[in-house]
Amino acid sequence: MCGIVGYVGPQSCSDLLVDGLRRLEYRGYDSAGLAIYDGKKISVVRAVGKLQNLVKALREQPLEGTVGIGHTRWATHGRPTEVNAHPHVAGNIALVHNGIIENHLELKRQLAEQGVKFASDTDTEIVAHLIHRESSAGNDLFTSVQRALRQVRGAYAVAVIDQKQPDRVVVAKNASPLVIGFGEGEMFCASDIPAILPYTKIMLPLDEGEIGILPREGLQLFTLDGTSVGRQPHTITWNAAQAEKGGFKHFMLKEIHEQPRAIEDTLRGRVDLAATDVVASEIGLDEATAKSIQRVYFIACGTSHHAALYGRILTEHLARVPATTELASEFIGRDPVVGPTDLVIAVSQSGETLDTLVALKAAKAQGAKTLCIVNVIDSAIPRVAGAALYTHAGPEIGVASTKCFTTQLAAMVLIAVYLGRRRGTLSQERAHTILQGLVELPHQMRAVLALDDIIRDLARPLASAKSALFLGRGVSYPIAAEGALKLKEISYIHAEGYAAGEMKHGPIALIDAEVPVIAIMPDDTVYDKIASNVQEAKAREARVLAIATKGNADIGGIANNTIYVPKVDPALTPFVTTLPLQLLSYYVADFKGTDVDQPRNLAKTVTVE
Ligand code: F6R
Repeated sequence: MCGIVGYVGPQSCSDLLVDGLRRLEYRGYDSAGLAIYDGKKISVVRAVGKLQNLVKALREQPLEGTVGIGHTRWATHGRPTEVNAHPHVAGNIALVHNGIIENHLELKRQLAEQGVKFASDTDTEIVAHLIHRESSAGNDLFTSVQRALRQVRGAYAVAVIDQKQPDRVVVAKNASPLVIGFGEGEMFCASDIPAILPYTKIMLPLDEGEIGILPREGLQLFTLDGTSVGRQPHTITWNAAQAEKGGFKHFMLKEIHEQPRAIEDTLRGRVDLAATDVVASEIGLDEATAKSIQRVYFIACGTSHHAALYGRILTEHLARVPATTELASEFIGRDPVVGPTDLVIAVSQSGETLDTLVALKAAKAQGAKTLCIVNVIDSAIPRVAGAALYTHAGPEIGVASTKCFTTQLAAMVLIAVYLGRRRGTLSQERAHTILQGLVELPHQMRAVLALDDIIRDLARPLASAKSALFLGRGVSYPIAAEGALKLKEISYIHAEGYAAGEMKHGPIALIDAEVPVIAIMPDDTVYDKIASNVQEAKAREARVLAIATKGNADIGGIANNTIYVPKVDPALTPFVTTLPLQLLSYYVADFKGTDVDQPRNLAKTVTVE
């Protein structure tokens, strides 16, 4: 997730591009850059870190010109350094990109064979070289971009300028967002509406597979195969604050709804259905090492710890290696026994959580193999771990984690299948079922998110509860724990997440008509057992809200209300059962009027022990 802005018109555009990037900084902030055509040539200024550093660099090296592109980066391939910052230049071409190019290694190999030298470690630079190659063969900018993108597999929004045809910006989109803004004798493009909203309210979001030419006079729009597209722009009625949140009331709600896209980005290029395998050399374990591992420890805190609980179950189930989950703060304190045959996996959205970092260092010092699952590239934890599997959720602004959690779940499936295939414990048939189910999840998740209004209505009565109990078994137990954490974090209602079988060993004493019970009970091998546990709660007058699989005919006799989720493989149910719980917590908090995006006493990054 990065931010793109582009301009062509009569104004000198450096300040305008920086201003647009400022409103896109929520999409990425590890480096930024501009490329502007000054009447003779394209000049580029880039800087690592926050946008302010680019502003400083531009003071020393001002850029003048009326055609330009800008970018704020959220690193996916290559560390956040100046050479990896966008725009990327290849000969007469400068390009900014948001997305992930799946076949970048294959394309890089081809280009290298033709003598191309690369300045960066990014997937993006490869696209710049592909366009330059087409341009050098005599094609105009539009045709060059079109021909280059036909060779590319993956997600992209691109904006490209050309020293040989400097009166235009060429843009294209597949899976990553791009909106075109129409001014009076000037045109804009951006990853998101707020970037250009101060300049125009007339906009057209590009559809998948569209490519456009932006001269000052307007937009010429085509599909990638060259067919002309005649869609008309419309007027945006949102104000700037609404636009920044994509029209959602809070960042948290926006991020909940972004999850199908975030999962697609995490899986992009990593699932090979034809080979029934996970393609992720970044996991850093060859077959012999994967076979030699005798135990896996997951270490994490909070929500990431709940993802780790799921990872543990899947690792044992699919890779048949003993696995355990540790709260990072406790792992440090208890002088654990780890060694060279152990794999320690640190899980952290921020990559900066001090408890997790200290635990990881301790494990590494004792000789364990280390890997991390992290969202922020080149943060502290991946710099220490032996290997890093990045979730590509993009920046998460809401303090309560949502999309980072579900992308961590996706990373858990990737690792378990990767280990299972290499250890010979996972049959091709089962691996195929899991991987096929995994790539279909974004579709199923969209179906759950479509229940938003129904879930909002079910949340209303929960807002007056003093306490709530979340129950789950098997893979639904971590989800019950996460559901309870989410509710308490943002609504300040006391909530417990319990393994349903444990209820009778104590928490059942809490149950009465005033304590809502939220039971996560999708169709799986433990369904009958949790159904009995829920009946026990019902017998004590509990009001039960069930999350169950669509088509469950019995649930009406057990629960007072039910949210139905699509049927998925029993190992993958957390992806569809998590979403209703996030929405429930969100709406309860919103009804209560709490500060949803910045709940009291919490911080997004916890760098104290
Ligand atoms: C809850 C939440 C926290 C974090 C925890 C660990 O919504 O976000 O519980 O999960 O502070 O943070 P990371 O994942 O950054 O290590």
